[in-house]
Amino acid sequence: DAGKGGYDHYMLKEIYEQPTALRQTIRGRTDALNRRVDLDELPEGTFSGIESVHLVAMGTSYHAAMYARSLLADRGINAQAFLSGEYGSNPPPVDGRTLVVAVSQSGETADTLSAVRAIQGTGARTLALTNVVGSTVTRECEHTVYIRAGPEIGVAATKSFSSQVATLLLLCERLNHATNGATPRSTSDLLDSLTVLPDDVQQVLDESEAQTVASAYHDCESYFFLGRGVGHAVALEGALKFKEITYDHAEGFSAAELKHGPLALVTENTPVFAVFTGRDDTKTVHNVKEVRARNAPVIAVTDGSHTGATEYADHVLSIPETHRDVAGILANVQLQLVSYLAADMLSRPIDKPRNLAKSVTVE
Ligand code: G6P
Repeated sequence: DAGKGGYDHYMLKEIYEQPTALRQTIRGRTDALNRRVDLDELPEGTFSGIESVHLVAMGTSYHAAMYARSLLADRGINAQAFLSGEYGSNPPPVDGRTLVVAVSQSGETADTLSAVRAIQGTGARTLALTNVVGSTVTRECEHTVYIRAGPEIGVAATKSFSSQVATLLLLCERLNHATNGATPRSTSDLLDSLTVLPDDVQQVLDESEAQTVASAYHDCESYFFLGRGVGHAVALEGALKFKEITYDHAEGFSAAELKHGPLALVTENTPVFAVFTGRDDTKTVHNVKEVRARNAPVIAVTDGSHTGATEYADHVLSIPETHRDVAGILANVQLQLVSYLAADMLSRPIDKPRNLAKSVTVE
């Protein structure tokens, strides 16, 4: 209990550690004055000749990988995110122009190690993005970038997701410069937002209305999470967190998918969390109207800049205005809090959910 530092659970402690973890992640890596990203681990020229990026990961790390895929697509970089268990079983063609990024908090996930091993000898370049110094994945890959989140004990990953996404953002900027010679201006806006991100996360932690939401809905049948772009990755992560620790059915999907199946399950007893991050928000508002027409309670996670996002919501979980590439990190913190508080009200064993392990070392 001493290690919990006064918190009831490691998960809650780790949620509240995110401002500190993010400061560690970013420290020394953003040069706002010169509008540059410094990742000392990757010497100049590391990415020369790279034409496509494959991100391989499982669980929460896979959602961080999906987030990064969306960021890379925005930068005109050919990128795909794969479940590493699938990638290892059925690897796509790769060559020396492919960068394979293995995202793993522990660096020991068997599926992710097997994905990296599956492309050895093809000439593909490899990079480990992990939290654990000297972990197996760092030995299997050519390059390593640490997320520097600090130890994470709770089985449900929280601060590691935020630090993974922040590190992937820096990596995306490096790739952008290497492949496109990105304009300094875009980097500058993003670096400014990253610099204030720890304070923005603190604001979410201090002002969140998650308790009201968890109290209102913790005994419902099913929970749905929807979003677009990076918001899609956050919706999947929100649902994963919710099912892992509440044991209730929760499903995340792209808002674009709503009418292609999930809408059939929506009733007045299925709260819908809508994640707004500034990507096609108007379309997501249309989806919100559709679920409201079926009497589903709607919880919008938004900075309020799109009036429709708040207009049709029963509850709003606010995030500070920021660059749209980092908005998903803030939205995800709100969803972490809702999951934690709902699971606590249901008296679940939050730090050690049944049947789950922090690190899955067999395929
Ligand atoms: C398990 C854990 C998850 C984690 C996933 C990948 O499923 O319960 O929290 O996201 O493994 O772990 P990794 O260490 O590779 O990020």
